[in-house]
Amino acid sequence: MCGIVGIVGQQPVSERLVDALKRLEYRGYDSAGIATITEGTLHRRRAEGKLVNLERRLKEEPLGGTIGIAHTRWATHGPPTERNAHPHFTDGVAVVHNGIIENFAELKDELAATGAEFQTDTDTEVLAHLLARHRREGMRRGEAVHAMLKSVRGAYALAILFEDDPSTIIAARNGPPLAIGHGDGEMFLGSDAIALAPFTNEITYLIDGDWAVVGRTGADIFDYDGHPVARPRQTSVAVATLANKGSHRHFMEKEILEQPEVIADALGHYINFIENGADAVFGIDFAKIPSLAISACGTAYLAGLIGKYWFERYARLPVEIDVASEFRYREIPLSPQSAALFISQSGETADTLASLRYCKQLGLKIGAVVNARESTIAREADVVFPILAGPEIGVASTKAFTCQLAALAALAIHAAKARGTVTEDEVQALVESLTEMPRLMRQVLDSIQPEIELLSRELSKCHHVLYLGRGTNFPLAMEGALKLKEISYIHAEGYAAGELKHGPIALIDENMPVIVIAPYDRFFDKTVSNMQEVAARGGRIILITDGKGASASKLDTMHTIVLPATDEIIAPMIFSLPIQLLAYHTALFMGTDLDQPRNLAKSVTVE
Ligand code: F6R
Repeated sequence: MCGIVGIVGQQPVSERLVDALKRLEYRGYDSAGIATITEGTLHRRRAEGKLVNLERRLKEEPLGGTIGIAHTRWATHGPPTERNAHPHFTDGVAVVHNGIIENFAELKDELAATGAEFQTDTDTEVLAHLLARHRREGMRRGEAVHAMLKSVRGAYALAILFEDDPSTIIAARNGPPLAIGHGDGEMFLGSDAIALAPFTNEITYLIDGDWAVVGRTGADIFDYDGHPVARPRQTSVAVATLANKGSHRHFMEKEILEQPEVIADALGHYINFIENGADAVFGIDFAKIPSLAISACGTAYLAGLIGKYWFERYARLPVEIDVASEFRYREIPLSPQSAALFISQSGETADTLASLRYCKQLGLKIGAVVNARESTIAREADVVFPILAGPEIGVASTKAFTCQLAALAALAIHAAKARGTVTEDEVQALVESLTEMPRLMRQVLDSIQPEIELLSRELSKCHHVLYLGRGTNFPLAMEGALKLKEISYIHAEGYAAGELKHGPIALIDENMPVIVIAPYDRFFDKTVSNMQEVAARGGRIILITDGKGASASKLDTMHTIVLPATDEIIAPMIFSLPIQLLAYHTALFMGTDLDQPRNLAKSVTVE
């Protein structure tokens, strides 16, 4: 979603604001803008498109000032034009906003009826008008902000500048994250600590309902009712260096290829836990819980779905799982004796956070499977299971997915051990399979790229692709389809192979490639029958299997990708590699913006 920064400084701020925006560009990249106060007047520069356009604009028309706010946008209300780019200005007030103001239409009508003239299509502009109105009514700046917050409904992280006060920024949070950074005679604001890492690692996180008056030497924080509150100051571990893609064409390519190393790191952490029977460290007593709830969005949800198969099969632990946007509203009757896992790379996804809060309120023990360890989801959980993937910059998730899987597999084995549903020998065998992963991943990545490139050229000519799988390969089929559509914009669907004949088979013809993920496992023969059904209707099959599967299938495929034989528990991680590479190379042929595909953002902080 949108990214926000602010600096109350002693030196010119414009370059530093843009620098911080670069670190937030993963949140949205439709347009960007910056506002400062110079000689008692608010000035702004805005530009449509990527941040480089704003940088170009600032080169042509530099902006002075030692106080400023800035924004990178992921459009919600109104197209991503310069006119709709933040900051929004009205009568000496400048506002940048991340979130959605749900009652903006009624506020807009009411303001328009009293003469307000709107310049943009955004929901945010009503905030600037409300503030300007309150100031005209004689309120002081803090009062005006407090009154404005009382009249809006929705989610927001805000940074506000008043032209008549060149020494403070007012910030507010309800939903999307907002961090205050403490410097030496300077103060900072940012959507996350990573944005502020070049300036300071001393951070205070605002919590929902908070608003703060940030000056050069400190911040006064208030709760929603306007009472002064103290929020802890902590030292962030966010690193100042921006991740770089080295010699790779894209972050996504780098992140796919580094999976053997990051998985090895994640396993180092988790295998130690399994082997040392660290119930207490895990904080959730898997031996006692009657069931487990899992919720997440997108790729993280699909990792959770694979996790469900593992928890149920190995630990005999029933799992309730849903996408977070449904989970949060379903009023699921969960037992307070149960535990819940929330999976999120960013740790900020609004729906996942809301689902977490729902479960917390019911009294469940909360586990967060996150990459960003300082995120809101991590902070609100009882226990954090880090996936240790390192920064993931490509918008399409790759290494975070396989690291989420590695963490979930280890947790499922741990749960099975705790519940006595597997023998000690079976635990050892499962752990040994996990330790095989980095080597097998390297072997696959070193061998399959040439054939994937040839196949991708063919896929890039298609309009639709179907992915099929059974068992854990069913969520993987959905992940393959998601990866392909989000970066190549080719329509793709993932189905349980057994569901084919209940509808999707009607789509099969010679123009519809069908990618079948089928290692030689206990489902293999059944999946072969489904492939026969596709072949009988002239469908073109791309089979992803292992050596035994390739010789046992006896099918005339368009192509067969042969991977090394794997144990069932690690197959989803190994079979993720060809589906990620297929999406990557197909998108390369299509010439799309691979790391920042259209309409997407890396962190989704609105529902
Ligand atoms: C797809 C993708 C998204 C995310 C989803 C959840 O490649 O990356 O589907 O998985 O937006 O994001 P997190 O994991 O940050 O909660």
